[in-house]
Amino acid sequence: MDFADTDRKRNFSARLFAAAFLVSLGIFSLRQSAIVGSSNLFSIPESGVTRVLVTGGAGYIGSHAALRLLKDSYRVTIVDNLSRGNLGAVKVLQELFPEPGRLQFIYADLGDPKAVNKIFRENAFDAVMHFAAVAYVGESTVEPLRYYHNITSNTLLVLEAMATHRVKTLIYSSTCATYGEPKKMPITEETEQVPINPYGKAKKMVEDIILDFSKNSNMAIMILRYFNVIGSDPEGRLGEAPRPELREQGRISGACFDAARGIISGLQVKGTDYNTADGTCVRDYIDVTDLVDAHVKALANAKPRKVGIYNVGTGKGRSVKEFVLACKKATGKDIKVEYLDRRPGDYAEVYSDPSKIRRELGWTARYTDLQESLEIAWRWQRSHLNGYGPHAAMG
Ligand SMILES: NC(=O)c1ccc[n+]([C@@H]2O[C@H](COP(=O)([O-])OP(=O)(O)OC[C@H]3O[C@@H](n4cnc5c(N)ncnc54)[C@H](O)[C@@H]3O)[C@@H](O)[C@H]2O)c1
Repeated sequence: MDFADTDRKRNFSARLFAAAFLVSLGIFSLRQSAIVGSSNLFSIPESGVTRVLVTGGAGYIGSHAALRLLKDSYRVTIVDNLSRGNLGAVKVLQELFPEPGRLQFIYADLGDPKAVNKIFRENAFDAVMHFAAVAYVGESTVEPLRYYHNITSNTLLVLEAMATHRVKTLIYSSTCATYGEPKKMPITEETEQVPINPYGKAKKMVEDIILDFSKNSNMAIMILRYFNVIGSDPEGRLGEAPRPELREQGRISGACFDAARGIISGLQVKGTDYNTADGTCVRDYIDVTDLVDAHVKALANAKPRKVGIYNVGTGKGRSVKEFVLACKKATGKDIKVEYLDRRPGDYAEVYSDPSKIRRELGWTARYTDLQESLEIAWRWQRSHLNGYGPHAAMG
């Protein structure tokens, strides 16, 4: 090793130490801001106030859900271990709702039974929205145990703590990946669930655990099976900011924006000979604003001793080619597209039948214009080039 190397290492260690220090300082100050003067508000019942625990609330969907709940006057506790989420998203929420008793953030790992029990012992919740999870299909095939642990085993801990502390309502984030490759479209809630990857299997196991548990419990439970989530807060306060190292695992919208920003050279579309109108895969893209609205409606309609299971999608399939065109228009960038052979394990068409949720909860997707959803998300992306990190915007 030469001196330059040693220097670089020393610099790197110093930077790492500084970053770790800043993150801990951020967590500490956020916790303090929640605790000072308001901790009792989270531990005692108050008439007319619904207290919701949002697990994974520093993540993409959880932060948008927390924002909506806060806007609707719920009292919100976010629990997150920041393994994938962003402290910056929690800070945005804290700044928007600084009053005592609105929002508290608890930094904890839901895989730690002591921490989970402490959270439920020291706070009073009327409902839990359980978003926290690792959530990449590809990664789940490489690290299946991580997925079974994080999704299945952690949810068991949350459910046990909820039962012990008599929390009345659970809204669970499930996924269309639990269906696997159904032969018949659209997918209804009655479509057989035969998941084909550890991510889908782990979520299906949770659904089974919940269903067994519910047979002998008063808990009101809603299981929402999301399709492909896109978009961000129309007012530009929150966005989707996955860790850079997860970009490769990422979703099509992230890849489109990365291509538009020049972080990657272009998009690779895998498979043009599927049995679909234009030969590319078809998916059902649901805007995150509609998705969180489905959660609020699920919470309002949850009934003791009942489990409601709902698809949350638009009911309309869009091809990858359509998506790429919408992304080009939304970003105004001429994204380079490379057409490759099929990727093993991808299925041709997946789209929902959302009629049950429309009928029973009065919910319908309103943001169904792909280009509009992508324009909203792109506005946040281009003004947050470092995600929730130090401010940098596109010229
Ligand atoms: N994004 C989608 O298209 C999609 C589709 C279907 C279902 N879902 C489900 O929605 C939920 C949220 O997904 P997302 O896209 O917002 O993911 P995300 O990675 O942005 O958010 C997940 C959050 O959970 C936190 N977390 C993970 N493990 C934790 C643990 N052990 N303890 C505490 N916190 C932990 C992460 O730090 C992160 O903030 C997940 O359950 C996912 O399976 C997402």
